[in-house]
Amino acid sequence: MKISVYRFHPETDKKPRMQTFDIEERPGMMLREALLEIKEQDETFAFRHSCGEGVCGSDGMNVNGRNMLACVTLVSELKQPIQVRPFPGRPVVRDLVVDMSQFYEQYKAVKPYLVRKEPLPEQEILQTPEDRDKLDGLYECIMCGCCSTACPSFWWNPERFHGPQALLQSWRFLADSRDQATEERLDELEGPYQLFRCHTIMNCVESCPKGLNPTKAIGQIKELMLEKSV
Ligand code: SF4
Ligand code: SF4
Ligand code: FES
Repeated sequence: MKISVYRFHPETDKKPRMQTFDIEERPGMMLREALLEIKEQDETFAFRHSCGEGVCGSDGMNVNGRNMLACVTLVSELKQPIQVRPFPGRPVVRDLVVDMSQFYEQYKAVKPYLVRKEPLPEQEILQTPEDRDKLDGLYECIMCGCCSTACPSFWWNPERFHGPQALLQSWRFLADSRDQATEERLDELEGPYQLFRCHTIMNCVESCPKGLNPTKAIGQIKELMLEKSV
């Protein structure tokens, strides 16, 4: 099996190049394992990974033009020669490793935690099973970045458009019956960029390895804004 990987060390290379490796394919082999074999052939090759189980979110990359997690991607399901590149639109640190600072800044900007105005109860803030169900499809985000780095609006405005991951998380807290900062959260999303730069192209939905739907969450935020404004 042939795999072409993106190589670029900004300190030493003038420009990026693709390098092709021959890897012996095994039944059930995941792309992460194939990349580890490349690393055995050339230890200077760099990529992030950790859990190997689709949980930590660290091995997101662009494979044959789509963002995905290497550890849950079967090489047998990929068209060969497999082309592996870093996430688009992010500065390359080295090979497949990109700088995700902007992505984390946008996540931080939506205050991804419960905000309470009333004093906290002694033990816990109760929630009905129905209200808890509203968080399904939202809390499972592993922050891999596959969605935001597939979003054209995020490529062009990473400093101003929050991007699908952060907006999904914004809705996760707006939808939470225990949170008490609805007005403030919505006020912070006003304006032409933070939320409204989404043009509903749905790249984010197609690239989410957890099957989440940031486009739907963005639509729900817009509906709530409308409801609150009348
Ligand atoms: S639907 Fe919105 S957030 Fe998702 S990729 Fe398209 S522009 Fe980006
Ligand atoms: S919404 Fe999906 S693609 Fe986006 S960061 Fe979360 S898990 Fe990854
Ligand atoms: S290595 Fe953790 S999600 Fe792939």
